[in-house]
Amino acid sequence: MGDTWSDLAAHRKRTADTRITELLRDTGRFDAFSVSVDDMLLDYSKTSIDARAMQMLLKLASCVEAKRDAMFSGEKINTTEHRAVLHTALRNRSYNPVLVDGKNIMPGVQETLKRMRQFCQSVRQGEICAADSQHFTDVVNIGIGGSDLGPVMATLALAPFHDGPRTHFVSNIDGAHVHDVLKDLDPQRTLVIIASKTFTTIETMTNAKTAIIWLTDALGDEHTQHLAAVSSAKEAAAAFGIDPTKVFGFEDWVGGRYSVWGPVGLPLMLAIGPDNFDDFLLGAFEMDTHFREAPLNENMPVLLALVGIWHNNICGYPTRAVLPYDQRLSRLPAYFQQLDMESNGKSVTQSGASLTRDSGPVIWGEPGTNGQHAFYQLIHQGTSVIPCEFLIAAQSFEPDLEDHHELLVANCLAQSEALLLGRDLKVAKSPHREFPGNRPSITLMYRQLTPHTLGKLIALYEHRVFVEGEIWGINSFDQWGVELGKELATKMLPMVTNTDNAGDADTSTAGLLQRYYALK
Ligand code: F6P
Repeated sequence: MGDTWSDLAAHRKRTADTRITELLRDTGRFDAFSVSVDDMLLDYSKTSIDARAMQMLLKLASCVEAKRDAMFSGEKINTTEHRAVLHTALRNRSYNPVLVDGKNIMPGVQETLKRMRQFCQSVRQGEICAADSQHFTDVVNIGIGGSDLGPVMATLALAPFHDGPRTHFVSNIDGAHVHDVLKDLDPQRTLVIIASKTFTTIETMTNAKTAIIWLTDALGDEHTQHLAAVSSAKEAAAAFGIDPTKVFGFEDWVGGRYSVWGPVGLPLMLAIGPDNFDDFLLGAFEMDTHFREAPLNENMPVLLALVGIWHNNICGYPTRAVLPYDQRLSRLPAYFQQLDMESNGKSVTQSGASLTRDSGPVIWGEPGTNGQHAFYQLIHQGTSVIPCEFLIAAQSFEPDLEDHHELLVANCLAQSEALLLGRDLKVAKSPHREFPGNRPSITLMYRQLTPHTLGKLIALYEHRVFVEGEIWGINSFDQWGVELGKELATKMLPMVTNTDNAGDADTSTAGLLQRYYALK
């Protein structure tokens, strides 16, 4: 593989002056540099990847197939945590056995899904109800990271499918969050879900305690009827006083940021109903099947990953922008930030050696068209090249507002074209009006943002992250980089509460603590 990396670098050096517009003179390029899975199209023709580069990139990906099969079959590929990686089992429709430590996990997955379905149906129909026998009108999910971002992103994305209770999300330890969410709700009508894989996360435990006090003040002992939990630590949830019939467990082979497909998706299922949730799983399963079966050169997650590797490692662009032209996907960039940066923000290989090339890029973004009026200036004329990932649906859910959708599509296509073409000085007349152009982008287009499409989209990006991680040789499924901050926060707390003792904090932090004491 070492040679392939240097061959790619040499090829880039040779071809760096070729503009993407020159590559696009080949009328077959769009077909050759795009791939479809059903109605979902990934177009990467507006990049500087040519046929030779793609050939070499595909060579880099040849290491992925064996690891992919190992992942799907339950091997413990998360070596630092000694865990299998089986979020795909949560959406496995083939019902073929999947073995972990010799035991088929599929019956357990199906049983949990069945319990989730029953619970959601009962809540939605008012059979599981508030202490005064009335329907729950509102659900508050308390969780953070993977126990928040998936359901919050997907619930917002699928707003046209909402026909259940209103869903709200509390994640931040900042008391403003829980305060602002609860202040408009009626505890008599609210179901609180405490979602934490470990059931130890300080933000979630603190917010959960505050919510329980809020419920207890209104309902006394009956507040327990208003609680449910989602966790891998079922005993810890029960110890919190939650009725075990309302505790939904999942296993350690589901990583937090990959957990929306199981019980962590409970608020989503409550909002859109079990059948739509099934469709969400089915969409993801179809992408899983494509990822397992399509040859590498037609494999959408593999090709998406290779575009990422080209931009990051070969062209040296350290960030990528996720730009959904869909207001309902406004939390998608944040979701992808966790998915990608927590998975691939690593500096050592699976064997512990220091990486010799860059791993995960910085992921950021906002929905279009809003971003156009905020940060696109830099994307078009700034000194850094930022590969952009545009997402757009052909159909909206607002047939009466078709003029809006046509403008949205026109803007999306215009932006990638402007990045590509630029405007030279002759036309621009003055340097500040000049656009360099030749800026790469990809576009993901699909019919409509249904549960099925969203499932496919998320699975696509999950597998992309996996493929990139494998090519770098890192473990994409642990997250040790979040530990130190957690430990130091615990150590810092007494220095914050005891306002005359900066303890053994470093001199800068001690200075900040002194100012904090003075301002308090
Ligand atoms: O701090 C990072 C993290 O561990 C994420 O990986 C995880 O999704 C999040 O915290 C929340 O963890 P939990 O679900 O255990 O509360």
